[in-house]
Amino acid sequence: MQSVSKIKEVREIIKDWKSGGFSIGFVATMGYLHAGHKSLIELARQQNDRVVVSVFVNPTQFGPNEDFAKYPRDIEHDWQICQEAGADLLFAPAVTEMYPDNNLAYIDLKELGDNLCGASRPGHFRGVCTVVGKLFNIITPDQAYFGQKDAQQLAIIKKMVKDLNFAVKIIACPIVREPDGLALSSRNAYLSTQQRQAALILSQSLQAAQELLLKGERDAQVIREFISEQIASEPLVKSDYIELVDTLTLKPVKNITAPILVAAAIYVGKTRLIDNFLFEEI
Ligand code: PAF
Repeated sequence: MQSVSKIKEVREIIKDWKSGGFSIGFVATMGYLHAGHKSLIELARQQNDRVVVSVFVNPTQFGPNEDFAKYPRDIEHDWQICQEAGADLLFAPAVTEMYPDNNLAYIDLKELGDNLCGASRPGHFRGVCTVVGKLFNIITPDQAYFGQKDAQQLAIIKKMVKDLNFAVKIIACPIVREPDGLALSSRNAYLSTQQRQAALILSQSLQAAQELLLKGERDAQVIREFISEQIASEPLVKSDYIELVDTLTLKPVKNITAPILVAAAIYVGKTRLIDNFLFEEI
């Protein structure tokens, strides 16, 4: 596996691959890779001739009071995971490489990024879209792999690709969980043993809500209150949002008549965790 940090180097490698007629799969990450990322890289490996992974903690998607400086980083471990999962190229640029001088161009999908995670993280999706757009322009992948865990990010990136005519197919990949149900996240590293135990209420309450939906409940307010009560029963956890939204517009639904996304975010101490499920059987 090759590892580079300069855009010029990536472009040269990609040019070479493209002239050889190779298809390119891409996994964008902020590093501190875990089994969830590994599953994306492995799928990209199966479906493409060449696989690129980017590791870049993107400052523009962090708010002023968020964890950019202390976001976990371990490039050697990331290298190892990429190697094991069969990546061909690891692109780990510096901030100055991705945002030289005075970067004035941003990609903002406005209202799609205003609710759910966007409500408590203003500007977050503008930063995500900008960096993903830049990475797509640098790597020019045929297929790019994103986890369903970041459901709003996935929906926004799909819309960005459609609206801006990026020539890349977005592949959604299932949430990877610990055996006890906790969705894998780099931020799980912040949790103490006690907090990690408390955090399970998120996946457990969503799982129970899914069962209510399967039994026929179609009132979004009932489902929301049910999840809210479950989360409130865990003293170490504070709910950030619980939403039932249309899978494409991300607008809240009242009566469940079409495929929906049930998404929630919680704070366990200062750590913010998200989880969700899609309910498609009507
Ligand atoms: O999901 C992430 O890790 C990030 O938001 C992404 C897509 C790599 C952009 O920085």
